[in-house]
Amino acid sequence: MFKYATFAAIALLASFTNARPATLDVFVPPVTSPTTGTVWKVGTQQNVTWDTSNAPSQITNSQGRVVLAQGGALFTNQTGGLDDPLASGFDILLGSITVTVPDVPAADNYQIVLFGDSGDITPEFTIEE
Ligand SMILES: *[C@@H]1O[C@H](CO)[C@@H](O)[C@H](O)[C@H]1NC(C)=O
Ligand SMILES: *[C@@H]1O[C@H](CO)[C@@H](O)[C@H](O)[C@H]1NC(C)=O
Repeated sequence: MFKYATFAAIALLASFTNARPATLDVFVPPVTSPTTGTVWKVGTQQNVTWDTSNAPSQITNSQGRVVLAQGGALFTNQTGGLDDPLASGFDILLGSITVTVPDVPAADNYQIVLFGDSGDITPEFTIEE
């Protein structure tokens, strides 16, 4: 319950900062990788991929941003966080983007959040040293 509440609140906050017109469609691309069972090694390059097949013809925010989260809480001012995203400013219709895994402590409850119009959060996966 808590993690979804936290995520929803931040997604809402993010949507306000984008100052978008209300008439366009909201596109929430489902992230297909990483997912449950994925293991990323610190310092390696990895691909975040998402499904663009349901993209509406007009989208409100075509600029994507990839942010790291852990246990439902978004990173903020750390590497990979909202202030220093793993990737940003790319076209949300690309369907994939390469990121460098930041030097974070090993854990099995990391998540990736893809922001475009709105955000999609992945299941928890592993980052190891
Ligand atoms: C990421 O995608 C690129 C381009 O499709 C591919 O060449 C590369 O092998 C992929 N990397 C990983 C870690 O899957
Ligand atoms: C992140 O922000 C918090 C609160 O402003 C601060 O206490 C903390 O030192 C910051 N961490 C980094 C890595 O900048």
